[in-house]
Amino acid sequence: MRLTHRNILSVTLVVVFCGTAATAQEFPSEGLSPAELFNARIMPIFRSSDPSSCVQCHLSSVDLKNYILPSHEKTFLSLRDQGLINLETPKKSKILTLIQMGDKDPDSKARRIHEKTRLAEYNAFVSWVEACCNDSKLRSLPPLTTEERAAPASSNEVIRHARISRVVDSFARNVWSQRMRCFPCHTPHEIDPSNGRHQVAIKNMKKFEQQYPVELIERLKIFKESPEATLQYLVDKSQSTPEGQTPLLNLAEPADSLLLLKPMSKIPPKKADGTFELQSSSGPMTHMGGLKLHKNDQSYKSIISWLTDYAAVVNGQYKSVGELPADNWRGSKLVLRMIETPAAWKVGTPVQLFVHQWDETSKSWTDQAVAFTQGTVTARHMVNGTLFLLTGRQQSGKSQLDSRSATLPRGRYQVRVYVDSNGVLATDPTLMLGEQQFVGRAEIKSAQWREGFRQAASITGAALK
Ligand code: HEC
Ligand code: HEC
Repeated sequence: MRLTHRNILSVTLVVVFCGTAATAQEFPSEGLSPAELFNARIMPIFRSSDPSSCVQCHLSSVDLKNYILPSHEKTFLSLRDQGLINLETPKKSKILTLIQMGDKDPDSKARRIHEKTRLAEYNAFVSWVEACCNDSKLRSLPPLTTEERAAPASSNEVIRHARISRVVDSFARNVWSQRMRCFPCHTPHEIDPSNGRHQVAIKNMKKFEQQYPVELIERLKIFKESPEATLQYLVDKSQSTPEGQTPLLNLAEPADSLLLLKPMSKIPPKKADGTFELQSSSGPMTHMGGLKLHKNDQSYKSIISWLTDYAAVVNGQYKSVGELPADNWRGSKLVLRMIETPAAWKVGTPVQLFVHQWDETSKSWTDQAVAFTQGTVTARHMVNGTLFLLTGRQQSGKSQLDSRSATLPRGRYQVRVYVDSNGVLATDPTLMLGEQQFVGRAEIKSAQWREGFRQAASITGAALK
């Protein structure tokens, strides 16, 4: 299936504006009635199959067309009744402010790309809104019923959730933060020739370059210099996936994205002459990099959560705030480990560990976990995972990505343990386990929270209460 991420990232979304509305800019509006202006200038926007300027920031859920009805009178009343028209100072109408949003975008490239569309929309709306406000009969008509109004189908929370900047921020926290698991093969910008510990990696990469065709070496460069550039690459590549192949980001089946399936696949089998068979990128998949991601480990969890959310946003699947994921984690390098897991836990069973902090003022554990991780029971009866720190719900603004500050204060903590014994994660890998899967809690009297696996904070299965 050929993908269409309908309103991909703004940066490269070059909108060729429809001729009708663009020429409307020069349309003489003097002396025209509101109805005439509406037909000449607003209807072309309504009928156009091109996206409105809102796509500069909104991936889905809102479009200027959502506010337009076929009737000029009803469109005006609908806007008026929703508080989007300023009857006294028409130029200060909220609908015009929304159209002008793009002008305040700090991303100058995005601002330029959408400028023509934005101006055409603004000019069309400003002349029509002014004419309507000057029409005393029109402005004093009785209100429409709520059902008659034209508005986006999604709630404001859903609209905010589908903003490009929120999606990019989430990508940075959930996918970009996991990139070092793909070092050095897919992270060219993380290789530092002056770092003694990178010399083996550099040598291995040289070997790759001699071994593989240029085209494949280019495809190795998945993680770019920034989260934005990486996501743009993934989106572009996915859109040009040849028929029958698995896209890097699969909007129809997020769990079947190449980005996830590849690192969960083994090295191809060796041929009789000792070289490897060609890797496969569809059907039973193989990965020249070998098994780098285990199903249900913490990186799998965060990557699939992002993929699922991204697909739902692009496909416009969210309707109400209750359907939105919390999207409130950010990666850290702190590691939590459980050793000597109870014998009854089968190898491979997913386990979630939630960290609660001791609150000295209330003399109790915090209700909300401050961090969590997910892993599977290993053959050595351990569960290991780097922690995701839980922040408040991500609404607007950028979350901090600085991994130096991604830590927890030293002190007393409690780990609450949940085991997926009935396989609910197999149906929805993004789930957080709940009371039904709760098995017990264990205390860490004095957690130091140092980075890396060797300095992991640890609990034992025997201590579970
Ligand atoms: C430059 C970026 C940008 C553009 C362009 C943009 N918006 Fe938004 N929009 C935002 C941001 C940021 C928010 C979230 C505000 C918040 O979280 O408080 C938002 C939120 C909204 C909301 C939710 C209500 C609210 O106030 O939070 C609506 C409705 C909306 N925009 C409509 C539009 C329409 C219609 C257009 C096009 C005519 C548009 N926006 C263009 C940035 C933009
Ligand atoms: C030791 C090196 C190595 C590591 C580490 C590695 N890979 Fe790979 N990966 C490769 C090689 C070589 C290829 C190209 C051959 C192939 O497709 O298997 C590849 C291919 C891929 C592809 C296919 C790219 C395309 O456009 O065809 C994806 C996606 C991928 N890897 C994801 C990952 C992810 C995600 C990680 C980290 C969790 C990872 N890999 C870790 C070596 C590695």
